[in-house]
Formats: sequence, C-alpha cells, structure tokens
Amino acid sequence: MTQINPSILSADFANLEAELQRIGSADAVHVDVMDNHFVPNLTLGLPVVQRIREVTPLPLDIHLMIEDPDRWAPQYAEAGAASVTFHAEAATAPVKLARELRDAGARAAMALRPATPVEPYLDMLAELDMLLVMTVEPGFGGQSFLDLTLPKIRRAADAIRGGGLPLVIQVDGGITAETIERAADAGATVFVAGSSVYGADDAAAAIAALRTAASR
Ligand code: DX5
Ligand code: ZN
Repeated sequence: MTQINPSILSADFANLEAELQRIGSADAVHVDVMDNHFVPNLTLGLPVVQRIREVTPLPLDIHLMIEDPDRWAPQYAEAGAASVTFHAEAATAPVKLARELRDAGARAAMALRPATPVEPYLDMLAELDMLLVMTVEPGFGGQSFLDLTLPKIRRAADAIRGGGLPLVIQVDGGITAETIERAADAGATVFVAGSSVYGADDAAAAIAALRTAASR
C-alpha cells in the first residue's frame, strides 16, 4: 500500500502547526532530525517532536540523521513516534536498537546512505519494520534523485520477497511525480517528499499527484 509522508524540512518552521494542517491527507509526517555531526545541517530535536505530536493527528515518521542513535532513538519512540529510523552508518548495535524501538512501541526502521550497500544487512531485515533507502545524500531538501540507488532498492525488495518478510521499503530524497514512478517500480512503497509537497501551492493536490504517479 502506497504511503506518502511529506517532510517538514521544507515547511515554514515558524508556522509548523499551520504547515501540518496543509498535509492532512498524508499518511504520516516525516520529521528530519539532524545534529550537524552525522550530516552538515542542524534542525530540531525531542522537545519540538513532542510538541508536533500534540498538534497533529498524523503518525510521526522520525528520521534520525544523528550520531549515537543507540542513545537517542528510543527516546523518540517513547515520545510517541509511529516509526523511528536510525542510520546504519551511525548505529553501534543496530539489532539491539531495533528491538528497543519495538519494545518502546514504535516501528523500527534503518536507513542506508546512497553509497551504503544493503548486503551486509540482509540477515537483520527481519528485525526491521521498514528499510529507508536514501535517494539523495542526507542533509538537505531540494536535491536531485539519485538513480544509482535503484538497483539497491531492487535487491532489498528481492530479499524481502524471497524471505517472506513483512517490512516495507521507504525512499527519501528527490521524490517528485516523475521520480516516484521509478522508485515504486523498483519496490518502494513509502515515499518521503519535502520540496515537491511543501513547494507546491496546493499541498493536498501534490500529495494526490504523488499517490497517483506511484501506482501507475
Ligand atoms: C534529506 C531529508 C529529506 C528531505 C527530502 O536529508 O532526509 O527528508 O526533506 O527533501 P526533498 O524531498 O526536497 O528531496
Ligand atoms: Zn528524511
């Protein structure tokens, strides 16, 4: 089932409550947490996530682009996130961390940067509810979709199908009504879109257009 999760990285941070209302037809709100260490950009943290949770009925899809997710990720699950995504490149004990996230009531997800292969992680896919294949280098909105990530999405989808596993594949970065078709064709079903939703005059129409394009 296709899911469209707009990223508030491209929203107006001074008017978050109104910006969340613009995406009421989305499946979840994607929240990018950056620490200026794992990526060269800084956004927001737990107190803001806690407040977002209070003002939107949408599930929270938290994407942690931070060092030491082993320490921080469970706190986002406890704050009521529906899913918490940590980066494979940053986690010290990804299996333990995924289990802690599930124990705290969140869906456990792991992200791979564009150049990180999926092969070393195939044996732990059963520990995850979602695999995020980054389709740009994490850190900034508005970048172009990297087609070089498509074979990795296909390999992950094959492994998931072959193993009869329930996890879904999310893609994040450069998703537009054009690129979403290629990502969907490769096997992704959960789509993060920042600039293509928040940059549109009519965010609801942009979400609907992405949904239609993903199922073509
Ligand atoms: C980038 C973030 C994305 C970002 C995507 O590191 O993880 O969620 O908001 O922005 P667009 O859709 O503009 O590429
Ligand atoms: Zn993201």
